[in-house]
Amino acid sequence: MSQVTELGYVVLGVKRFERWKEFASTVLGLEVVEGDRPARAFLRMDYWHHRIVLEENDADDLLLLGLRVAGQDEFEAMAKQLEAAGVTVRTGSFEEAAERHVLQVMMLEDPNGYGIEIFHGPQVQANRPFHPGRRMHGPFKTGSGGLGHMMLSNRAGYDKNYAFYRLLGMRGGVEYRVPVPGLPRPVDLMFMHCNDRDHTLAFGPPGAKAANHLMFEVENFDDVGLALEAVREAGIPVAIEPGSHANDRMYSFYCVNPSGFMSEIGWGGRSSTHQSEFYQRDTFGHATVPGVATPDMQVDANLAPV
Ligand SMILES: [Fe+2]
Repeated sequence: MSQVTELGYVVLGVKRFERWKEFASTVLGLEVVEGDRPARAFLRMDYWHHRIVLEENDADDLLLLGLRVAGQDEFEAMAKQLEAAGVTVRTGSFEEAAERHVLQVMMLEDPNGYGIEIFHGPQVQANRPFHPGRRMHGPFKTGSGGLGHMMLSNRAGYDKNYAFYRLLGMRGGVEYRVPVPGLPRPVDLMFMHCNDRDHTLAFGPPGAKAANHLMFEVENFDDVGLALEAVREAGIPVAIEPGSHANDRMYSFYCVNPSGFMSEIGWGGRSSTHQSEFYQRDTFGHATVPGVATPDMQVDANLAPV
């Protein structure tokens, strides 16, 4: 069975294009590279040509997830296993792959209707070390764990999403079962992994946007603090205070990015676990900030009153 190996890139459609580039550079510390056409910019965080594409448009949301497979054999096998399961797949042209800076790409949709691109062979610019947009103590943690993780709105429901992402070779399931006063059943949050990173994709309750948050991990603890200071200096609202997640043990905080979903900056995540377990709340912290965190965001804090 072919399986995806990492979240390689994401494509975001953003309304406030110039603001996003400034936020990415001066707040998050990403490297901004002007795109190959107007209204497109690339964001780098390691040797890859890019990890994020910013497209100026009105979506103000996630447009595409780019999931990697190891090579050509796995790419072809993945297309076959998807088609055998009834998923419509279109193999991209040479030009479409070139536009993504990969060797081959295929396009499909997940059960929520979110755009998925499965690719192999990203362009790695070995001659071009990452140059952060502002001072950093250390690098972003990417490597075999991919660019980070993303929490998405679970529009299609647990069963359909679980079946689809299992088909891509991912493992995981419910990791938080959070009791919420007034609801007959607790709220389930699902987390799926495909490498050492505890989770690559997560699914929260349905929200207004596909994207709940996009997480970047830094290798030096002090870079979480530096990012928090950059957020405060820029007058950007913190939506979820610093704290430690029970599942990935990540020390992190969340701010609201220029598209109105959250950016999480974290440090110290543990490796993915091989046996399932669940939590009712986080280890400590991660309190939502009243007046900033919307109900969609609050669920992500995993700290609904117990
Ligand atoms: Fe997260």
